[in-house]
Amino acid sequence: MKITIKEASKYVDQQVTIGCWLANKRSSGKIAFLQLRDGSGFIQGVVVKEEVGEEIFAKAKSLTQETSLYVTGTVQKDERSPFGFELQVNDVEVIHEAVDYPITPKAHGPEFLLDNRHLWLRSKRQHAVMKIRNEIIRATYEFFNNEGFVKVDPPILTGSAPEGTTELFATKYFEEDAFLSQSGQLYMEATAMALGKVFSFGPTFRAEKSKTRRHLIEFWMIEPEMAFYEFEDNLKVQEEYVAYIIQSVLKNCQLELNTLGRDISKLEKIKAPFPRITYDDALKFLHEKGFEDIQWGDDFGSPHETAIAESFDSPVFITHYPTSLKPFYMQPDPNRPEVVLCADMIAPEGYGEIIGGSERIHDYDLLEQRIEEHKLSKDAYKWYTELRKFGSVPHSGFGLGLERTVAWLSGVEHVRETIPFPRLLNRLYP
Ligand code: 4AD
Ligand code: MG
Repeated sequence: MKITIKEASKYVDQQVTIGCWLANKRSSGKIAFLQLRDGSGFIQGVVVKEEVGEEIFAKAKSLTQETSLYVTGTVQKDERSPFGFELQVNDVEVIHEAVDYPITPKAHGPEFLLDNRHLWLRSKRQHAVMKIRNEIIRATYEFFNNEGFVKVDPPILTGSAPEGTTELFATKYFEEDAFLSQSGQLYMEATAMALGKVFSFGPTFRAEKSKTRRHLIEFWMIEPEMAFYEFEDNLKVQEEYVAYIIQSVLKNCQLELNTLGRDISKLEKIKAPFPRITYDDALKFLHEKGFEDIQWGDDFGSPHETAIAESFDSPVFITHYPTSLKPFYMQPDPNRPEVVLCADMIAPEGYGEIIGGSERIHDYDLLEQRIEEHKLSKDAYKWYTELRKFGSVPHSGFGLGLERTVAWLSGVEHVRETIPFPRLLNRLYP
């Protein structure tokens, strides 16, 4: 019977064959322990010389790291392993011998590991992070489908720039200039007017010369957009969504969180609703904390965000930023037009901003005025302003950065470990 490692629990005391790779091994004169992986999971294979005989034992002992194999044996319960099962090996068949695998069990530096990303992905830790990423994506589709949202796909090649023009990757669209999408939001607004509640999930590109542990050049964003949702309604969706993905990861990724040594007590505490703090109050708080230089109208950097986040056990919304700091499309507060009806969600434990969102301007004249103030091309945004001409309604939305969320839930320091092939400043290989 050919099975995957994940299915082992269903085959206790039965003989099975597993297609796998040798991740690591230990052996003595009488017994060899093979750490086997097949993508679905990790299991220890135990080879006892007295049981398999000289020849198979010698073969098992000489296996090299990352050799591909068919291993046949009996599944046994094993209380000591986190997985709960091991394989009592009867036979080993080599499919392909790996010679001099570069990533050995000793420690390697980050640049070496990134150069070998195509192989590094096989490690137990990277496997765990990718499984958590997958669970967040799965739970995202589940949450939004349960809530009546429709998944739609905005274009990646675009002619306009939602978040400002400085961070765009320019390309040619035959004779025309085009850009790689930095956010699908404007298109999502159009689809919300057609389908009510929508969400997208896709790659976004930012030509930012940032070299921090939170910045990727190419990252994936989940962008919901909701017709008839105002500022408060928007925050409610966000906190319920984030609480939902945390619960899903805690429930379905126990092994992976354990592999990563994640302190899950910090995640278990998190329940919606999340605390809110206005930009003004956050500024006061920062002044009290000794950040004296920052003034009204300045953006918060990561040290500021971290200082604010540290005073809460859960994610926190920072709301009502100065209008001058934010993109043209955000709805000014009617009582105080110098601030906008926006919120950034800041993750705890120093993981920074994971969501940016706002209510959108739905008044045609105001939007035109903002486009002028931002010196943007009226022609390029004609279709976008037209959404305000034909049955305009209040609407809101947000974007969640997948990689920062994976980093936070996995407890990994740097976003470079949260995407299969990270695009970083100075890195396009592999
Ligand atoms: O705050 P941002 O720039 O918001 C937007 O793009 C809106 N148009 C979204 C919307 O309202 N539909 O980006 C949203 C999130 C950030 O909070 C952050 O989590 C992530 O995307 N993000 C990045 N993640 C990794 N690397 C980068 N360079 C990122 N830039 C933003
Ligand atoms: Mg932002």
